[in-house]
Amino acid sequence: MSTSFNSSIKKARYMIGSLGGYSLIQLALDRLFSINHYYVMKVNLKRLSDYPLKRNPSGELSLLTVDDLTKIKQHVRKYKSNIRREILARIQFYERGFHNCYVMKIDNKIAYFQWLIYPNENENIRKYFKRTFYSLQDQQVMIENAFTFPEFRGRGYLPYVSRLLLNKAKNDGYKSAIGYIKNDKITSLNEFFKMDFKVIQYLREVKLAGRVFRNLKIK
Ligand SMILES: CC(C)(COP(=O)(O)OP(=O)(O)OC[C@H]1O[C@@H](n2cnc3c(N)ncnc32)[C@H](O)[C@@H]1OP(=O)(O)O)[C@@H](O)C(=O)NCCC(=O)NCCS
Repeated sequence: MSTSFNSSIKKARYMIGSLGGYSLIQLALDRLFSINHYYVMKVNLKRLSDYPLKRNPSGELSLLTVDDLTKIKQHVRKYKSNIRREILARIQFYERGFHNCYVMKIDNKIAYFQWLIYPNENENIRKYFKRTFYSLQDQQVMIENAFTFPEFRGRGYLPYVSRLLLNKAKNDGYKSAIGYIKNDKITSLNEFFKMDFKVIQYLREVKLAGRVFRNLKIK
C-alpha cells in the first residue's frame, strides 16, 4: 500500500474517532442534504478601516507549526461536539495544504487561529474547493476560518487578529481581500462590516450526497 494511501486512512480514522458518534451522524446528515447561505465579502485594502478597537488582547502571532497542530489534535476531544466539528474542519483544511494559518498564543496556549490564502494557492483552491470558493485574483487574498478556542472567547481576538492579518497583506502589496461568511455568523458579519468589507454576492450552498455546490458565477 502506498504511503499517501496509508496517511489518508490514518487521517480519516483520526477524524472519525475524534468526532464521536453523535457528531458523525450530524455531519453525515449534513453532507447528505443541506442548504446554507453565505455572503461573499470584499474590502479594498487601501480602505481598510482602522477604527479604534475596544480591546487589544494579549498574545503573540505566528504561523501554525506541525507541533501546534499536534497539540490541537490532542485536545479536540475535550470540546463539545459542535466545537469539535469546527476544529476538525480546520485541521482538514490545513492538511489539504493551506499552510498560511496564523495562531495567536498566550503562554504557549493557542487562543485563536485564522488563515490568509494567497493567489499562489489557487491550484489548491481549484483542487479541493472549486465549487466553494472563487480563485483569487492577482493581488487578492482570502481571509478564512477564524476560530477562537472557547476558553478565550469574548476577549476581542476576532477583530484584532483579522486586522493584523489584513494589514500584513496590505503591507505585502495585496490590493483586496475576500471572505465568505455564513449568514448566521452575526458576530463575524458585524466585525467584517466594521473593517469596511462590503457584500458582493449572496451564495446559496447545496450539499448533496457528499458534494458541495455553491452558485458561483464562473465564466
Ligand atoms: C466567531 C468567533 C471567532 C468570535 O470569537 P471571539 O474572539 O470570542 O470574538 P470577539 O471577542 O473578538 O468578539 C467580537 C465581537 O463579537 C461579540 N460577540 C462575540 N461572541 C458573541 C456571541 N456569542 N454573541 C454575541 N456577541 C458576541 C463581542 O461582544 C464583540 O463585540 P464588541 O467588540 O462590540 O464587544 C468565535 O465565536 C468562534 O470561533 N466561533 C466558531 C467559528 C466561527 O463561527 N468562525 C467564524 C467563521 S466566519
